[in-house]
Amino acid sequence: MNNYFVFFILIFLSYFLLHHSIAATNLHKNKQLTSDFLPEPPTSFNYTSPPTEYFEVTAPIELPKTKPCSQHILHHDFGFTYGHPPVLANYTPPSHCPSHIFSKIVLEWKATCKGRQFDRIFGVWLGGVELLRSCTAEPRPTGIVWTVQKDVTRYHSLFSSPQTLAVFLGNIVDQNYTGVYHVDVTIRFYPSNGDAPKSKVGALAFGGGVPADLVLPISKNLPPNDGLWFRIENSTDEGVKEFQVPQNAYRAVLEVYVSFHERDEFWYTNPPDEYLVANNFSDVPLRGSFREVVVAIDGNVVGAVWPFTVIYTGGFNSLLWKSISGIGSFDLPSYDIEVTPFLGTLLDGKTHLVGFSVTNALNVWFINANLHLWLDGKSIKTEGRLVDLVDKPLAVSTVSDFEGVDGSFWTSSKRSIFSSGWIRSSYGNITTSFVQDFAYNNSMVIRENGPQQIMNQTILYNGSVHANLPSPFVDDTYRNFSLYMDRYMVDKDVNTSLDVSNITLGFDENKSRSSAFGVSNGALKNVQLAKAVTVIKEKLVDGGFGKTQQDYSYTIDGYCYSRKVGSISNDTILYDKVSYSCN
Ligand SMILES: *[C@@H]1O[C@H](CO)[C@@H](O)[C@H](O)[C@H]1NC(C)=O
Ligand SMILES: *[C@@H]1O[C@H](CO)[C@@H](O)[C@H](O)[C@H]1NC(C)=O
Ligand SMILES: *[C@@H]1O[C@H](CO)[C@@H](O)[C@H](O)[C@H]1NC(C)=O
Ligand SMILES: *[C@@H]1O[C@H](CO)[C@@H](O)[C@H](O)[C@H]1NC(C)=O
Ligand SMILES: *[C@@H]1O[C@H](CO)[C@@H](O)[C@H](O)[C@H]1NC(C)=O
Ligand SMILES: *[C@@H]1O[C@H](CO)[C@@H](O)[C@H](O)[C@H]1NC(C)=O
Ligand SMILES: *[C@@H]1O[C@H](CO)[C@@H](O)[C@H](O)[C@H]1NC(C)=O
Ligand SMILES: *[C@@H]1O[C@H](CO)[C@@H](O)[C@H](O)[C@H]1NC(C)=O
Ligand SMILES: *[C@@H]1O[C@H](CO)[C@@H](O)[C@H](O)[C@H]1NC(C)=O
Ligand SMILES: *[C@@H]1O[C@H](CO)[C@@H](O)[C@H](O)[C@H]1NC(C)=O
Ligand SMILES: *[C@@H]1O[C@H](CO)[C@@H](O)[C@H](O)[C@H]1NC(C)=O
Ligand SMILES: *[C@@H]1O[C@H](CO)[C@@H](O)[C@H](O)[C@H]1NC(C)=O
Repeated sequence: MNNYFVFFILIFLSYFLLHHSIAATNLHKNKQLTSDFLPEPPTSFNYTSPPTEYFEVTAPIELPKTKPCSQHILHHDFGFTYGHPPVLANYTPPSHCPSHIFSKIVLEWKATCKGRQFDRIFGVWLGGVELLRSCTAEPRPTGIVWTVQKDVTRYHSLFSSPQTLAVFLGNIVDQNYTGVYHVDVTIRFYPSNGDAPKSKVGALAFGGGVPADLVLPISKNLPPNDGLWFRIENSTDEGVKEFQVPQNAYRAVLEVYVSFHERDEFWYTNPPDEYLVANNFSDVPLRGSFREVVVAIDGNVVGAVWPFTVIYTGGFNSLLWKSISGIGSFDLPSYDIEVTPFLGTLLDGKTHLVGFSVTNALNVWFINANLHLWLDGKSIKTEGRLVDLVDKPLAVSTVSDFEGVDGSFWTSSKRSIFSSGWIRSSYGNITTSFVQDFAYNNSMVIRENGPQQIMNQTILYNGSVHANLPSPFVDDTYRNFSLYMDRYMVDKDVNTSLDVSNITLGFDENKSRSSAFGVSNGALKNVQLAKAVTVIKEKLVDGGFGKTQQDYSYTIDGYCYSRKVGSISNDTILYDKVSYSCN
């Protein structure tokens, strides 16, 4: 068998064994593998072959026809960076640009790496405001390259003054893990082609497509040795931040960034604790398979996030994610919570407190947020009041049926949060309401006396913002996050076993918005089917094969983009069909 495969699988497995604790399947089988084996030195690689390009499938960013002004902000080689401060760079607004109003701003992260390395999580912050949460691709000895382009136009106001850019990417380089990440960060500014904002029509914040006037960081002040995220380590832990809102704000949206790691990287595969206790598994608690991020302001729950199950580039089996990376892994989704109903309580010029917590959390979750604020240019003081807040308590139910290590588990939960409040500004007295509705099912089966785990999870979300303007503003988001996983570890003979993983990961989203500025409808259907087989011989990985297929289809207001692509873990793209047709 090709050493090529052996090498990469080892990287994943050793990481897995050292850093993860997941379901019984693995608790059970890990015992057969030594906990700290090491990849063979990669002597047989052809170092002159070109680097492999990895990618996450997304629709291209729609760009205006204007010529962009590019600004290279940072070059850095991330070697041994654990325990070190974030890497900083000075940002100054582009002076060579003909205009300072941009209709599009694009952040580009470009990186290469060669050698052995794990999937590393990183964040990019500008003035403490997070622009990108992402995961590195795992390198090959012959090198890899990947690029992430993100539309950061919603942070427009930040770019008009000098700021500090901070990047934290915690990496380890030693004799065993040799991959250094060589990174370039560039920002491209596309000047507006003269279309003035349609300010005559109404309150721009509601449907005008105009970015916030101010974006406040809800993150840690530059920490000496970590990212700017809050680390949430257990279910009672809370990340808190004081903030102050200008007294003429009339709309506020809190954008939350979330990622889960170490003991909670695969939270959705955790069986209930009663099962672990009954089977004398020492690794308790795992707290079952349900997690919820709760956001509170001054002690009031303002909203929740039931996160998408992002699988990082080494997740379960790194052969699943070559060259196509998992949905969201290169650009983790952020989640918007409308806090306008609460704005009335924040306009007193005093400091207030926002807090993040995670139900059932195990060590560790990285969470922080950005507060997008729209200000009333025609007044120095707006006023308002929270009128209604209904936070229906979380309902989680679990049904377990097991005998020994085999069993089935069903976990289901629902949650609904409603808020409404008015704000009086020069645009009038606007009542805004926000409702979030969540539903979750997780079914899990463990069988064959332990080594097979099948998990099927669905998270449904409805989020809706209404504002009673003369021409009503309605903004609806519907999401369906699904994950099906079948993982089987089977002994072939006394010295050889197979790890077989099948995964179906889906991210569907529909958005619709109507206001005085018009109507907009968007839909995304994005699903990945990935399979990988790993051969483990005499406690070492001895081969493997992975295949990934993705079906992506995105449409917004008559624009359509779809891509069907398949790849094999030996760098082969099986097919790649892109279409802009709406049929
Ligand atoms: C290594 O790869 C390069 C580029 O693909 C190729 O030209 C060369 O023949 C390869 N060398 C060996 C020893 O396989
Ligand atoms: C590299 O791996 C070997 C074998 O597991 C181990 O003995 C050694 O301590 C490791 N080196 C470092 C720097 O971790
Ligand atoms: C939860 O985590 C925090 C932060 O590390 C720690 O101070 C606290 O003792 C932990 N609580 C429990 C119950 O483990
Ligand atoms: C768990 O441990 C207890 C006490 O040592 C023992 O009586 C019981 O049989 C064990 N159960 C299993 C499933 O191994
Ligand atoms: C704004 O409208 C709400 C709901 O109609 C009303 O209760 C409130 O008194 C109004 N506020 C002002 C300042 O007029
Ligand atoms: C979302 O709304 C749809 C349509 O009203 C409804 O059928 C569905 O049950 C809702 N889902 C959730 C999670 O509330
Ligand atoms: C959960 O399962 C129940 C029963 O099959 C079903 O009615 C409900 O729609 C499911 N909810 C989700 C989020 O899949
Ligand atoms: C997983 O559950 C969903 C929703 O209940 C269902 O539609 C789907 O068929 C299930 N997938 C598998 C592979 O069983
Ligand atoms: C959510 O998506 C999964 C996977 O595509 C599908 O099986 C399920 O039926 C969907 N659920 C709803 C309520 O649309
Ligand atoms: C994975 O999928 C293949 C093909 O659909 C199927 O034959 C196999 O049984 C599945 N294996 C697991 C562990 O789910
Ligand atoms: C298993 O490994 C042992 C030790 O290397 C060897 O003696 C034995 O022949 C192997 N058995 C099989 C079935 O490969
Ligand atoms: C990759 O694997 C496929 C399927 O086994 C094989 O057909 C193809 O030749 C391999 N490509 C390379 C470059 O090894």
